[in-house]
Amino acid sequence: MDTLLPSLQILDIANCQQVESFPEGKRSAFLRRTSTSLSTLPIKEFQNLRSLDKKGLQLLTSLQLLSISDCPRLKARGWDFLQYFAAGVPGSFHGCLFPKASLHLIHSSCALNWLSKIPIEITDESSPAWNKGRIHYTNATKEVVEAYETQFSKDMESFLFSRAQELVVGGLLVLFVPAVPDVMSNSDTFTGTELDILGSCLMNMAKVGLVEEAKVDSFNVPAYYTPPKKLKALIERNGNFSIKRMEVLNNQKKHLILQSSSLRSLYLRAVLEGMIEKHFGNEILDELFNRFTHKIEGSSFFLNPETEKLIILFVLLERNN
Ligand SMILES: C[S@@+](CC[C@H](N)C(=O)[O-])C[C@H]1O[C@@H](n2cnc3c(N)ncnc32)[C@H](O)[C@@H]1O
Repeated sequence: MDTLLPSLQILDIANCQQVESFPEGKRSAFLRRTSTSLSTLPIKEFQNLRSLDKKGLQLLTSLQLLSISDCPRLKARGWDFLQYFAAGVPGSFHGCLFPKASLHLIHSSCALNWLSKIPIEITDESSPAWNKGRIHYTNATKEVVEAYETQFSKDMESFLFSRAQELVVGGLLVLFVPAVPDVMSNSDTFTGTELDILGSCLMNMAKVGLVEEAKVDSFNVPAYYTPPKKLKALIERNGNFSIKRMEVLNNQKKHLILQSSSLRSLYLRAVLEGMIEKHFGNEILDELFNRFTHKIEGSSFFLNPETEKLIILFVLLERNN
């Protein structure tokens, strides 16, 4: 049989009301004649589609992506490869969660900025990295910053090691990582500034006896925002993955939804309340976040949302041999 459209790679088919099985009849013959090149086949809005013809589709030897949307009557009968499994797995992603070589795709979204623990030296009074009077590394000494960096490096190593165990060779790891641009410091970001301000509110409360100062000194937020270069170096050092893509996601407008100081305060409270309550008790929460709201009202940083520098890195990795 002659090959039709020998270079056709993408065929987008939509709005076929009559079709009940796909591919069938004329479509099957057409697909067979494009079989050598077709790699992407999105089908959508087949209102009466009830079944897919497995044999017909298997003729498409180059097919890599079959996407199906708005086909409300389609049943997955007999379509083993269209079935998905959902499982809740307890445990930390810094360790292995799934059996060896059992996954083809892993996605981690906006979570790798959370460290597995606070680096021990930043709560040690005798260490040069003691983080006195602060709750984060923003604007802290270089020893504190280094302690956070070291913990992040260890955590990334365990994360990548664990995912490398779980993925098949050639499997993909897709990451969205909250980060800071290479040339910026954490104090150029809302998140860094917010944590610094929250720390100063706690210190002010300590000065008037509302919390113990020692409690503030021993409280630290286990979050680290990596520069892209550092993350790239850690992935390369791990050696289990090839970097297929690494770029900054366009999230420029995200600040627009949190324009007022009370909304920003609520947002931060939602993220940190559990941690703060566990360390200080719940009596301080309203007072702390009221103080925080008032303090950021006067901060020029927050009056100019365009100053936000936090980025989300998109990283696509492939498991090596
Ligand atoms: C900002 S939320 C992101 C949620 C979701 N992935 C998304 O993109 O909308 C961060 C999530 O990471 C989870 N997380 C942080 N550290 C973790 C760890 N070591 N193991 C498993 N989950 C963790 C938190 O519980 C939280 O649900």
